[in-house]
Amino acid sequence: MVDFHDFSAAVLARSRDHDSRVEAHESRYRNLEPASARLLADLVCGLRAENVLEVGTSNGYSTMWIAQALPPGGRILTIDNHPGRAAEAAGHFAEVGLEAQIEQRVGDAGEELAAIHGSFDLIFLDSDRTAYLDYLPQILRLLDGLLVVDNVISHEHETADFAAALRETPGFAVLMLAVGKGLLLAQRSAEY
Ligand SMILES: C[S@@+](CC[C@H](N)C(=O)[O-])C[C@H]1O[C@@H](n2cnc3c(N)ncnc32)[C@H](O)[C@@H]1O
Repeated sequence: MVDFHDFSAAVLARSRDHDSRVEAHESRYRNLEPASARLLADLVCGLRAENVLEVGTSNGYSTMWIAQALPPGGRILTIDNHPGRAAEAAGHFAEVGLEAQIEQRVGDAGEELAAIHGSFDLIFLDSDRTAYLDYLPQILRLLDGLLVVDNVISHEHETADFAAALRETPGFAVLMLAVGKGLLLAQRSAEY
């Protein structure tokens, strides 16, 4: 049986080696920082989140961390518009034995979000930051719990408008954590 921690560490090491040799932003894997992945998994576990939605699968590093923290029967739906990376992610999920908990959608996040029904205990955004504001109506429709957004410190200029819009949305408590590249946590209260 594959050890999850060894496997995810090997995936991250390969990604970082690849990313260090590749210039083009869109050709890099850009995996979540390990400290952020652990915190995300702790949140999923602590909140007993059963239904998680992720925007930005890449090669599946963050997806695996979330999936291994789900309770029995829990599910994560993850979206990416890059078919090659989605296929790599699918290979990783099968190799580490997490494929039963993970559903992948390959397509533009804006279109995919509009087509999704139901509600999610936790939504994780790690994709094209300039589009987050456009996604907000769909996120408000789908979220019934905690929204987590990466890169709010490293790319504050790209995420500030989205963070401000969340702060102005009734029913949200928003905070930022200096973990990894900066995580925004926005908890939706039960009374929204
Ligand atoms: C930072 S990477 C995600 C990293 C991943 N969460 C991890 O930690 O392993 C961002 C991903 O978003 C995807 N992406 C960018 N724009 C997108 C869009 N409009 N729709 C869907 N996916 C998109 C990219 O293909 C890329 O794989």
